[in-house]
Amino acid sequence: MRTLVFGGTGIVGRATVAAARRRGFPALGLSRGQGDIGAPERVAAAIAAFRPRLVVNCAAFTRVDDCETAPERAFAVNAEAVGIVARACARAGCRLLHLSTDYVFDGAGAQPYREEDATGPRSVYGASKLAGEARALEAPGALVVRTSWVFGAGGPNFVDTIRALLEARRTPLRVVADQIGAPTYARFLARALLDLGESGAEGRVHYRNREPVSWFEFARAIVAALGLEVEVVPVATSEFPRPAPRPAYSVLAVGRFEALAGRPVEPWRAGLADYLQPKERTSR
Ligand SMILES: NC(=O)c1ccc[n+]([C@@H]2O[C@H](COP(=O)([O-])OP(=O)(O)OC[C@H]3O[C@@H](n4cnc5c(N)ncnc54)[C@H](OP(=O)(O)O)[C@@H]3O)[C@@H](O)[C@H]2O)c1
Repeated sequence: MRTLVFGGTGIVGRATVAAARRRGFPALGLSRGQGDIGAPERVAAAIAAFRPRLVVNCAAFTRVDDCETAPERAFAVNAEAVGIVARACARAGCRLLHLSTDYVFDGAGAQPYREEDATGPRSVYGASKLAGEARALEAPGALVVRTSWVFGAGGPNFVDTIRALLEARRTPLRVVADQIGAPTYARFLARALLDLGESGAEGRVHYRNREPVSWFEFARAIVAALGLEVEVVPVATSEFPRPAPRPAYSVLAVGRFEALAGRPVEPWRAGLADYLQPKERTSR
């Protein structure tokens, strides 16, 4: 399945191109410079040149705190530009798979969020991504995949942050313990995206890895996987004030994905072990 990836230089985009090529699909990932999704002619030209059957839109303004002070840019990239991609896909007759986020929910729940649950974003980022979902779904056959807490090569992520703090000997680590979510390994996510792309599923579907944890527990697992004995101290979100509010409970329900794929979601601990393997990192 010929696969074109916008935002092909980010964490999810890179992993998706690599996964598609492993499946033997012709796949092309475009950087912002090569395929700015805000430029209708460039999007249309990229699709006309590559003739994909599947377009995966990983392009987004993902710096959550910066979105608070740049709402116009957040909505331009995360919503309006998604409409540009959707219209181009509709005209070209290819399928759109668009990435979205757990931040579309308010995080006040206590049960995993299902696809049909009420949304209520509390940040500009979440609101702009929710608006982008609606734009994406205007394309016939489009699929929106919401995910959470992604780690992998190609961009800032929590595993690299913890590793950098350890290398800088900023210990003991103080990590937020009152936000619960589910880490997701980009390589597993990419496989899921291609499975979904091939399945023909439409609408919204949630994908994340198992089992849910707090950032504190995730940090402890990273320290342990690195074979280190470093103290990790649980702290409250209120001790780390940030411009954008974070959801307290951010677990996505993955029943629809598991039914579509016919398999359970992968454990993030297996992804963490893979990501931390030195030889794997140099080859990604
Ligand atoms: N990472 C997470 O934890 C997470 C969680 C939930 C959902 N998601 C969603 O997953 C998707 C991919 O996220 P990611 O983690 O891979 O993000 P990322 O590493 O920040 O990558 C984003 C990519 O989008 C590109 N981009 C930005 N503006 C663009 C534009 N106008 N036109 C074309 N490309 C543009 C960036 O290029 P430049 O570097 O050149 O700007 C980069 O390649 C996003 O939709 C995000 O909302 C991510």
